[in-house]
Amino acid sequence: MYYVDGAWYKPDEPAIFPEDRGYQFGDGIYEVVRIYNGRFYQWDEHMLRLERSAKELSLTIPTRTELTEIAHKVLGQYSLQFSEDAILYMQITRGVSERQFTFPSNTRPILTMYAVPKLRPIQQMQNGLRAGLVDDIRWLRCDIKSLNLLGATWAKQQATEQGVDEAILHRNGTITEATSANLFAVKDGKIHTHPATNLILHGITRQTVIQLAKNLDIPVVEEAFSVNFAQLADELFITGTTSEITPIIELQGTPVGDGKVGTIVQRLQKAFEEHIAIDRNSITK
Ligand code: PDD
Repeated sequence: MYYVDGAWYKPDEPAIFPEDRGYQFGDGIYEVVRIYNGRFYQWDEHMLRLERSAKELSLTIPTRTELTEIAHKVLGQYSLQFSEDAILYMQITRGVSERQFTFPSNTRPILTMYAVPKLRPIQQMQNGLRAGLVDDIRWLRCDIKSLNLLGATWAKQQATEQGVDEAILHRNGTITEATSANLFAVKDGKIHTHPATNLILHGITRQTVIQLAKNLDIPVVEEAFSVNFAQLADELFITGTTSEITPIIELQGTPVGDGKVGTIVQRLQKAFEEHIAIDRNSITK
């Protein structure tokens, strides 16, 4: 069942409002939260980011308590039908209003939430992906998790047309991130990733991986790096809620390092696996 603005719908039942600003302007925000073993993973971190996105866009959203309560109802509905690992999709738009560019003052936010099965990408995490380089033509507030995803979908489409699995984005030769994941490069035992500026989404998995690397005494450098640096990296990998930690073994037709899944990414994957397991037991909201 899909929760839309206070009511429940089946997937094939219409529940949209034609003048919802989410449809007309992409005027809204979203989060994708992992459900492992029937429990939300890193719920508070996602709520915090949602609240930040809302604040940046002067968007009024339901309270964290309200959102958490509804999320549990969604999870309850999901669990009646499925037992697989899943994702919760949550979107909040500025609401319904006669079409106008300025933010209307009297709208009510429209909340949509649902959970669908999503298996962990085991195969990809073990074998790695092939990626291509694509121009990052997105807007300059990629730190806001907004519904405007055309830049990302377009990039992913270009990658698909190039015959590869993922797009690595760059702005004038400086690597930013992937289409729906952050990017890390390993060089001489250190891991490098773009700093958490306006040019990337501040990934929750990115932050977890930085912490796990520090725990493993792997130095982390949060500095922008070039396409050339990425092409000479020993290892590349992406991180995200659905991709977890997935190696990139080929970039623009050239093997990354020796073309095999590297040892640092494997150490991080192992640490992440343990982190998920701990979180599964400790967070039972
Ligand atoms: N995407 N960068 C971008 C552009 C993203 O869209 C995402 C997440 C990430 C990773 O963030 P996190 O680790 O917090 O999931 C980085 C979600 C999963 C999506 O749009 O499906």
